[in-house]
Amino acid sequence: MKILIAYATSEGQTRKISRHISDRLADAGHAVEMLRLADASGLKIGRFDRVILAASIHVGHYQRELTEFVADHADALNEKPTLFVSVSLAAAGHDAEDWRGLDEILADFTEATNWTAGRTEQVAGAYLPSHYDLFRRFVMRRILAAKDPSADLAADKEYTDWGVLDAVVDGWLAE
Ligand SMILES: Cc1cc2nc3c(=O)[nH]c(=O)nc-3n(C[C@H](O)[C@H](O)[C@H](O)COP(=O)(O)O)c2cc1C
Repeated sequence: MKILIAYATSEGQTRKISRHISDRLADAGHAVEMLRLADASGLKIGRFDRVILAASIHVGHYQRELTEFVADHADALNEKPTLFVSVSLAAAGHDAEDWRGLDEILADFTEATNWTAGRTEQVAGAYLPSHYDLFRRFVMRRILAAKDPSADLAADKEYTDWGVLDAVVDGWLAE
């Protein structure tokens, strides 16, 4: 199968997740094209059998290039089996309020684009102080200290569960 993986990332974790999915699909014999949404203008979605979109949440929103891409290609996307990978730190825990927030962010995105993916998966991202500027480091330290009191606030920490991600992708492919 020909599969498109198009992603947006701010600190790199969604690229890493997209690369992981791409490698898995390629190993299974699929023809995979992976590119940044920012570089996707003019892309013909009709060439692909399936499409995976991935983006991360910052201050309650996905990257603008995701919203623009989906709004531009909603009709073509609606004709394909699609998987939307939503990456955040809220998905790393079990806090009910955090998960309600994820539902609201997704609902806002759906309303803005008029598109609902065939399947949406909330995937835990990473805390990456080595990638943050001073202000972001300050804000994110406070958020992580509340969320994961045992975490070393000076160190990068990945919350992505690669085994769960593999199962999601395999399940979606089998649908
Ligand atoms: C400035 C900033 C704001 C963030 N805002 C949110 C947020 O509102 N909700 C959330 O769940 N995660 C939030 N995160 C966590 C990111 O979604 C998480 O680090 C993710 O792995 C980033 O993926 P990326 O590296 O592909 O951009 C934020 C991270 C940063 C640095």
